[in-house]
Amino acid sequence: MEIVRSGAVLGAEVRGIDLRAPLDDAALHQLEQALSEHQVLFFRDQPIDHGHHLAFARRFGPIQTHPAYPHPEGFPEIVVLESDREHPSRIEKWHTDMTFRPNPPLGSILRGRIIPEGRGDTLWMSLFAALDALPAQLRERLEGRFAEHSFEHGFGESLAEPGGRERLAQALADNPPVRHPVIRTHPATGRRGLFVNSLFTTRIVDMDPTESTDLLSFLYEYMERPEFQVSFRWQIDSIAFWDNRSTQHVPVHDWWPATRRHERITIDGDRPV
Ligand SMILES: [Fe+2]
Repeated sequence: MEIVRSGAVLGAEVRGIDLRAPLDDAALHQLEQALSEHQVLFFRDQPIDHGHHLAFARRFGPIQTHPAYPHPEGFPEIVVLESDREHPSRIEKWHTDMTFRPNPPLGSILRGRIIPEGRGDTLWMSLFAALDALPAQLRERLEGRFAEHSFEHGFGESLAEPGGRERLAQALADNPPVRHPVIRTHPATGRRGLFVNSLFTTRIVDMDPTESTDLLSFLYEYMERPEFQVSFRWQIDSIAFWDNRSTQHVPVHDWWPATRRHERITIDGDRPV
């Protein structure tokens, strides 16, 4: 196995591995280390099936299911993310997945199934790089703070659809707002990152509401700097495996009205500290 850095601050391509084969302990350890270090790993030409996808993901930890997305028949662990002419993608904001949970995912393994050629790239950003470059006085304002993250906030558009609030009533009841540290320490590396995102974070706790809104708006804009990012051009059977503890991501919305389909498996994470 060969791991080749692809972005300036994050991202690496993993070569010389077949994800249809069982992952031995040495390879698992190497991939876990690479994930923590490079934050997002890319694999090309992996013609796996649902069973391979699931078996690979399970090596990294228990699987999380998602309350709001469909799944393939017989595989409730696999989330289908599909958009087409009639159903445009609604994921338009930078985000860390599922920070509305007390224990947001460790990571996600996303596989390209239907790819409009040359379009619909995904971008990832390093929360480490964003924190490292933050001016010291801003960082001091954030040290020791907590922020609130909300399912209701993140899925507001789905909830606003006719019948949406009824469809997602159980998810709403199961996912009340949670609090996470604004500066999170990565459990494997000890590196620290800026753990707020515009999709799910609603406010900084114990801060004047106007100050909180202004500060978060500033941070979201600041974090979108290209020097914190890496981009990935999808092909069918490409896979991206990101560390959800240290990154945000967003698709580039240039493929509508084409159809684009991905399948995602999400691995349980620990409570952010
Ligand atoms: Fe996502």
